[in-house]
Amino acid sequence: MSLLSIRNLKVTLRTPQGPVYPVQGADIEVAEGKTRCLVGESGCGKSLSMLAVMGLLPAGASIEAEQMHFAGQDLRTLTAKTYRRLRGPGMGLIFQDAMAAFNPVLRIGDQLAEAYRTHRGGSRRVAWQKAVHWLDRVGILQPEDKARYFPHEFSGGMLQRAMIAMTLITQPRLVIADEPTTALDVSVQAQILALLRDLQRSEGVGLILITHDLGVVAEMADDVSVLYAGKTIEEAPAKVFFDRLSHPYSQGLKACTPNWRAGPRPVEPIPGLPPPLNQRHQGCAFRYRCAKAMQICDQLPQMQPVGERHRVACWLTQRDQEITNAQTGEQP
Ligand SMILES: Nc1ncnc2c1ncn2[C@@H]1O[C@H](COP(=O)(O)OP(=O)(O)OP(=O)(O)O)[C@@H](O)[C@H]1O
Ligand code: SF4
Ligand SMILES: [Mg+2]
Repeated sequence: MSLLSIRNLKVTLRTPQGPVYPVQGADIEVAEGKTRCLVGESGCGKSLSMLAVMGLLPAGASIEAEQMHFAGQDLRTLTAKTYRRLRGPGMGLIFQDAMAAFNPVLRIGDQLAEAYRTHRGGSRRVAWQKAVHWLDRVGILQPEDKARYFPHEFSGGMLQRAMIAMTLITQPRLVIADEPTTALDVSVQAQILALLRDLQRSEGVGLILITHDLGVVAEMADDVSVLYAGKTIEEAPAKVFFDRLSHPYSQGLKACTPNWRAGPRPVEPIPGLPPPLNQRHQGCAFRYRCAKAMQICDQLPQMQPVGERHRVACWLTQRDQEITNAQTGEQP
């Protein structure tokens, strides 16, 4: 069942230089208890799309969307107050900089307990027990002692675990993890990802995982969405994503990712740069970098289904699909 369903999300930011349009058609669907990975190059609007979902955009930002549903609620109708109540038990955010998530002068256990009491109520004693329980769940050894530590007494990996505990202690139905392991070394990164996956499965939460690392996608994803210049251009189940990528940008993303399993092979960077953000897309935003661009690519392609849970926004894919349908006699 769908937990989060976002269609054609657009975010406009006001800057002294005029409006910018960093998100111009993001589609994001997360099923209950499943993981969707968001990939795309730096600056393509992954974080801002998620901040829009969480109701945490910077002041002056505005959003439009065809659909913005979370657990049966229309997020577009929420006030700041109802959004505050939804965060915590509804949706939680784990981000890259764990240190920034904690107040440096308060003990870790007190901060976890406070997060619990804010959203779930109960006595200080019960909230403290919950804090210790969750530090234990995320693999912090001697959790009763460690709950009395201050953030600077934790290592980077321990802090990341504590931030996961602080997010999960309120038992959210959706967790958004924005590059949660980028700042950690590879062995700690693997531990944190394994922990997130285990907790996500045991707690049955929906997870959106933003990552640059296709190895992480292979480990974690049920479904994958590719964003380019603020627009979702392909979404697919993870297996299809790796076997039958369709959009030329998704193919380029894969080709420029080093793969140590495949042995030494040259990576192929995608030539050119994404378009500036101060204009709305008129045609396909990838057309200046796409070796397969055609005249029709001056018009904006919409996301079209090409298989089960697989949709692509590309004129070439659409044309190939029409040819296949004509050959097999299938209706589009
Ligand atoms: N407050 C802001 N004012 C102006 N531009 C902004 C602001 N926040 C983000 N942007 C711009 O919006 C674009 C999208 O930003 P976003 O942080 O969503 O990218 P991202 O896909 O998360 O990138 P990364 O992979 O580097 O984290 C970027 O070009 C960024 O510079
Ligand atoms: S729509 Fe055209 S320019 Fe865009 S990715 Fe497809 S073929 Fe390339
Ligand atoms: Mg980001």
